[in-house]
This record gives sequence, structure tokens and C-alpha cells, in this order.
Amino acid sequence: MIPNTWYPVLETSKVGRKPVGLLRLGERIVLFRGEDGEIRCFHDRCPHRGVALHLGRIVGNELECPYHGFRFGDGGQCTAMPCEGRGARPPKGMAATVFTVREAHGLVWLWWGASARDLGLSELPEIPWFDGLATSTENTFGYAAEWPQNYVRTIEANFDAHHFPFVHRWSVFSSPGTRVDPIHVHERDAGFLVDLYLREDDGLPIEASRGQKLHVEIGFKAPSITCIGFLSMKLLLADCPIDDTHTWRYTRHHHDLVKVPLLGKALAWLLAVNDWNILQKRQDLPVAITQEPRAPVPGCDRLVRADAGIAAYLKLRRRMLDASRAYLPVLPPHVAARLVESTHRRLDVLPPEPEAAAAPFPQPSS
Ligand code: FES
Ligand SMILES: [Fe+2]
Repeated sequence: MIPNTWYPVLETSKVGRKPVGLLRLGERIVLFRGEDGEIRCFHDRCPHRGVALHLGRIVGNELECPYHGFRFGDGGQCTAMPCEGRGARPPKGMAATVFTVREAHGLVWLWWGASARDLGLSELPEIPWFDGLATSTENTFGYAAEWPQNYVRTIEANFDAHHFPFVHRWSVFSSPGTRVDPIHVHERDAGFLVDLYLREDDGLPIEASRGQKLHVEIGFKAPSITCIGFLSMKLLLADCPIDDTHTWRYTRHHHDLVKVPLLGKALAWLLAVNDWNILQKRQDLPVAITQEPRAPVPGCDRLVRADAGIAAYLKLRRRMLDASRAYLPVLPPHVAARLVESTHRRLDVLPPEPEAAAAPFPQPSS
């Protein structure tokens, strides 16, 4: 998991006046909204005797443990220990571990990394998002699901256009052909854009071809948001690791097909239902879960030219992981532990020149 970045963890609408317990980034966390409307996030473990805090209740802006009623407020500090009497001052070490969270674009984002001060910044970086992508309009519909697959594998698939004519042979949107040509990757700030055509293979270069073609643009922003644009539609995918073998995925459909408000919403809903029930659950999933190894290891796959987006993602990922190792001494223990673990198991590390990258991938244009 790449440190010092924001991860989307849940839709904001799911956090109300009841604590929500979740497993994200391999950590048990609890989210709750105080009476001031702010969302807070703790490690879902009471420092007293280890029970799950999400079973407790919200009192004002604090969370009360279900076991002995200790309360935890801002900064995670314990503010009350009923067994010790009203005037008792809880010791400093009696504190829940706090995670920094923010609400943006209809999602809760969790900061996985060192503090702004330890990073030498005046404030934490901005939450990654795509310019011009509406957070909520009448022509959108979003839903979340758990995907039983390692999150690197899940994200890799976002750049895989040439599975469409095979895995989705029987779908509402049939592919115009099997050939990916041309395909270009443009580097962007903390991300990239894959620009490709999926088209009929008539043996001609695209300029001379009269065959059917589909233009697809796939934007990516680290660590885990993707925007796939084709025809008059955009598909936002926001992924977060649950653990090594499961991924939480939020999908939001945007379209520009009709401009009538209620009809637009209904169409976005239909697109989402088709996407999850047919394209993802019945067609993608049975194939995707057979991928070996379940979490990619160096050189495990032989990528080809049409996989340029996957190669760009793995390269960016490696670059960010390498850079983040310099911050190991200031990373919180749970974040540092995952980084060390990934290095040790070599799950997140690619060799300096992966075999696939030696293929003639298009060079970034900027
Ligand atoms: S275990 Fe939470 S108050 Fe005792
Ligand atoms: Fe698919």
C-alpha cells in the first residue's frame, strides 16, 4: 500500500449517528459522526481491554466503549473512566489511535501516512480527483461493492481494454473489434492518461481504416482512482484495499445521453445495475478470481503493447513506493509495518526493468 496518500474508504452517506466498523488497508477502523457533523475515525480497538469500539455509542462528539463505558474524544484521548469516578483523570496513554479522515466528492477519505509536519508540508496534500467530474448530478448513480481480489489486480484491470470483446462478448455494449491501436500513455501529475482505440482488425492503420472503432480515455490518479470515458459516458472507480485478497470498490456512472433530470438519473441507475449484475459479477468476476498469483509479484505476467496502461500503473506504483521509503522513520507504526511487509514479501516491488516494460511502449508525451 502506497503511504502518504488519501484512500477512499466509504460513501459519506453511510456514516451517521451510529459508529461504523470497517476493515480497510488491513486495519480495523471505526467511523462516526459527532453531533457537530464532523466525521472521526479511530482504530476499532479500545485501548483499555481491546474490544471493538464500533459496538459502542456516540455521545456528543465522543465515542463510548461498549464494555466499561470509557469515552474517547478528539485526538483519541480518553475523557472519562466511569469505574474510577467522576473526577478521575485518565492517563495520557489511555487513548484510541486516530486516523485522519475528510469528506469530499461524496466519499470519506483516509490519510494513510505521516503528518503534514513530518512531511515538511504546511498541510496535507489535496484529495485526488478529476477536474470537471461532477460529484453528484441528476445523471449519475454510484454504488459500492466488495471485490474478492487483491487491489493491485483490481486496479490493473481498469486499464485492460482488450478483455472487453472476449469477457463481455454478450453485453449491451458490444465491442467494435479486438484490436487495440493506437494506444498512448501521457504522464500527468501523480497519475497518467491512457488514450486508446478499440477497433475492428482490418489490417489497416487507423487513418486508413473504415472499420468500427471506439475511442476510450482512462485517467488514473494515485493511489487508486480511475475515470474511464467512452461515448457519452464516464465511469469513476475508487478503490481501497480491504486486505491482501479483497478490495472495496466504489463505482459511479456519469452520462450525457439524456438531459431530462429524472430520466437521466434512471438511466444512470440502469447502467449501474447492468454494470454490477452482469458485466462485473457474472462476466468479470469468474475470470478475474482465477488470476495467479493473486497478488502480482515481479515478472509474473508478460505484458504486451496493449497493456501499456497496466505497465504505467505498475511503474508509477513502484516509483511512489520507492520514494515513500525515505519517510519510514516518521510513518505511523501501522503504515510503516505495511510498507516493510510489502518490501519483505516483494509483493509491491518490481525489478528495475520489468520484462514487460522492455517492449516498445509509447513514450509519455509530456
Ligand atoms: S474495554 Fe473499552 S472500556 Fe474497557
Ligand atoms: Fe470487464
